[in-house]
Amino acid sequence: MSELNTIALKILEKGKGILAADESTGTMTKRLEDVNVPSTPDNRLLFRETLFSASCMSECIGGVILYDETIKQESSKKDKIPKLILEMGSLPGIKVDTGAKILAGSTNEKITEGLDGLRERLKEYYKLGAKFTKWRGVYNISENYPSKLSIQSNAHALARYSALVQENNMVPIVEPEVLMDGEHSAKDCFEKTSEVIKKCFEELILHKVDLKGIILKPNMILAGNKSKDKISNKEVAELTLKCLKNSVPTEVPGIAFLSGGQSEIESTENLNLISKINDTNFIISYSYGRALQQSALKFWSKDIRNIEGTQKVFNHRAKMNTLAAQGNWSKDLEI
Ligand code: G3H
Repeated sequence: MSELNTIALKILEKGKGILAADESTGTMTKRLEDVNVPSTPDNRLLFRETLFSASCMSECIGGVILYDETIKQESSKKDKIPKLILEMGSLPGIKVDTGAKILAGSTNEKITEGLDGLRERLKEYYKLGAKFTKWRGVYNISENYPSKLSIQSNAHALARYSALVQENNMVPIVEPEVLMDGEHSAKDCFEKTSEVIKKCFEELILHKVDLKGIILKPNMILAGNKSKDKISNKEVAELTLKCLKNSVPTEVPGIAFLSGGQSEIESTENLNLISKINDTNFIISYSYGRALQQSALKFWSKDIRNIEGTQKVFNHRAKMNTLAAQGNWSKDLEI
């Protein structure tokens, strides 16, 4: 078993998932301002350290994706944040893309940037303790989107990123996110997501990426948030698995979904059903940002010194998702 495959399996062992705490300073500022907390480096650190030192870190959270600011910050005990995460029994990871910018040659689509100087940045992150990384390609969806150009150029960037990450002994999380925004049907989401994922693997293979040493982070197959076409959670699970079976090579060890704007309960319920009917060899789990942090952030914002109370809320959400990753969640476990 390769070292990268061992890391990927460790992150996702026993129903563990990933805490995506890699919001850029801009996004985190929006999240904090929405709950009336000033976005200072200290406040961003306080909230994140509160989560990283919660008890669920050892049982439920196999990896934490950090942002550049956080990986370089020190905890209240004057330890570097990656050390705290390791001591809690989880693995530190880092977002290495520099964000999605307007894609020249297309209207209304984006290309993720950050390849220039990436090799050097990866060396630095590795020294800081990162064991895995993340890069997110983002795709609009409607009748004419995503365009071939967007599908091709984002797949190319994800593959070049992954090859560089593996060269530096870390596991790349490959995240092609077809957005939930729009009026599209679940069938459209299924077709476009399948096309996007297939192209990503075509490029990953061309760039000689070891597929056993990656984690795929896709969207679930959902109808758009403005769509009239409502489908059941069971249909979401069936379509999502069908899409993955058709487009993901069997060497890939694990798939950790993003929540993408679903509510906390919805993303847990869908994950639970996907895991329950999972007839593939892929480990199925979660890599949630908003769906793991929303309630905890809301609770914390009422009294930012209430560490224990905030951790209780976070522990519950992480526990629910870890049960869901094993198909063992039910609604009556929610409080
Ligand atoms: O790149 C997106 C995040 O890592 C996942 O965030 O679960 O809120 O969509 P989300």
